[in-house]
Amino acid sequence: MLSDKLKEETQNNHQLLEKVLVGQLKAIRTPHEYVNLLKTFYSYFGGLEKRINEVIDTRLLPDNVERRKTQAIANDIANLGGEVSLMASADDLPAINTHLEALGALYVIEGSTLGGKIISKMMQQQLGADKGMTFFAGYGDKTGQMWDTFKDALNGQPQNTEQEAVVIAAANQTFLKFGEWFDKTNQRVPIDLAS
Ligand code: HEM
Repeated sequence: MLSDKLKEETQNNHQLLEKVLVGQLKAIRTPHEYVNLLKTFYSYFGGLEKRINEVIDTRLLPDNVERRKTQAIANDIANLGGEVSLMASADDLPAINTHLEALGALYVIEGSTLGGKIISKMMQQQLGADKGMTFFAGYGDKTGQMWDTFKDALNGQPQNTEQEAVVIAAANQTFLKFGEWFDKTNQRVPIDLAS
C-alpha cells in the first residue's frame, strides 16, 4: 500500500528533520522564541498550502475542508501578540505541479499532526502555558482517526507504481526543503570570540 511505502521511504528524511527540530525546540524558553518557531511553520506550510490548493483535485479528498489549515498557525501567532511572516516562495518549496505531487506534500503536512502532539507537550512544559498551541494540537483526540481517513483516501489514488513514485518523491522533497527552510530562517548569530 502507498501509505506503507511512504512511511518506509521517507523515514530517513523524517528523522533528519526531527533532529533539527528537536534541537530548536529544546532551546525555546520564551513565548517570543516560540512565536519564531511558529513563523517558520507558517511561512513553509502556508507556501505549500497555496501551491497544493492550486493543483489538488479536492473531489478525491472529501473531508479536506475539515482539515487543519495554515490559518491555525496565524491564529496562534496572533494570540501570542506576534505577526505572520512572508510565505516561502517557489524556490524554497518542493515542485507541486500535479495532484499526485500535492498528495505527497499533504502527506507530510497531515503526518505532522502526529509529531505535533509531542511538540505541544514539550512547549507546554518549557513555557509553562498552553497559549497559542492549537496548531500543534492537530485534531486533538481525533488525530489518529483523521490520519487513518487520510491514508485511506491516499491509498485509493495512484494507479500504478510510477504514480506512487511521484507521490513519494514529492513527500521526500517536502521534508528536505523544510529542513533547508529551517536553516535559512533560523540563522544563528555567530559568537564573536574577539570581544
Ligand atoms: C519534534 C518533532 C517531531 C517528532 C518528535 C515527531 C514524531 C513522530 C512520531 C512519533 C510519529 C509516529 C506516530 C504514530 O505512528 O502514531 C510521526 C509520524 C509522522 N511525522 Fe513526525 N515528528 C516530528 C516532526 C514532524 C514534522 C515537522 C513533520 C512534517 C513536516 C512530520 C511528519 C510526520 C509524518 C508524515 C508522519 C507519518 C509517518 C507515517 O507514515 O506513519 N513530523 N512523527
